[in-house]
Amino acid sequence: MKMITDKIIETVREAAGLMVRSGFEVMEKGSSANLVTSSDLAVQHFLVGRLAELIPGSGFLCEEEDLDDISHEYIWIIDPIDGTANYARSMQDCCISVALARNGEVCAGVVYSPWRDELYHAEKGSGAFCNGHRIKVSDRPFEDGLFCTAMSTYRKEFARTCSDIIYDVYMRSNDFRRYGSAAIELCLMAAGYVELYFEMRLQPWDFAAGGLIVKEAGGVVCGFGGERLDPFKPSMVIGSNREDSCRELVSTVGRYLSELPY
Ligand code: IPD
Ligand code: CA
Ligand code: CA
Repeated sequence: MKMITDKIIETVREAAGLMVRSGFEVMEKGSSANLVTSSDLAVQHFLVGRLAELIPGSGFLCEEEDLDDISHEYIWIIDPIDGTANYARSMQDCCISVALARNGEVCAGVVYSPWRDELYHAEKGSGAFCNGHRIKVSDRPFEDGLFCTAMSTYRKEFARTCSDIIYDVYMRSNDFRRYGSAAIELCLMAAGYVELYFEMRLQPWDFAAGGLIVKEAGGVVCGFGGERLDPFKPSMVIGSNREDSCRELVSTVGRYLSELPY
């Protein structure tokens, strides 16, 4: 496994060369809030070509171009640029996120933010790392926690419920943050900077790599009701540095939602 993770890291670093600082094209996907750039497409094409060579016969679940072929033992789950809205505005919080799942379980994850100069990686059972150094979640309790969250950017009909949940957690914790990249936010939790996480609806490519990195750093991630995240389906994502805080987030969400609204 270690050898393959080293190869994924090498490939992701190389792909980041395609996240050029200027001269890329910005296009809309259905709405002006949902963007794709020529760099997203270039990074995805590059990764798909290289990663297919790394594990012949593997499948892909990728954000762009409806690439969804999960009937294989090994599946690559790829967000070529997470935080595209930041990238399109030349803001630093954007990254490449690549996870590898084997028989439905994420076994390796790499998140690389070239402009923050942070490369996070984890292998199942081997811990989590940032730029080669071991990372661990903090032990801050809920009331001292920093909360990373968002208002359901691409499904604004959920915004009112998100805002009720965010208000509730905000009033009982330290403060909240919104970076605009779910993968980076999960990695910041893994590295001990933030403690609480909630998003109403993420796609597998947003959370697959970051979720493993949080778990390997000693944290917890789950879906609505506390269930395990399915790496092939859209999901609510709840996470924390501590089990007790995660349970508190799950029960807070449950006060505003009796069932998942999608
Ligand atoms: C988005 C970012 C954002 C999150 C959205 C995601 P994209 O991904 O991760 O932080 O709030 O839910 O869709 O569109 O930049 O790849
Ligand atoms: Ca994303
Ligand atoms: Ca993306």
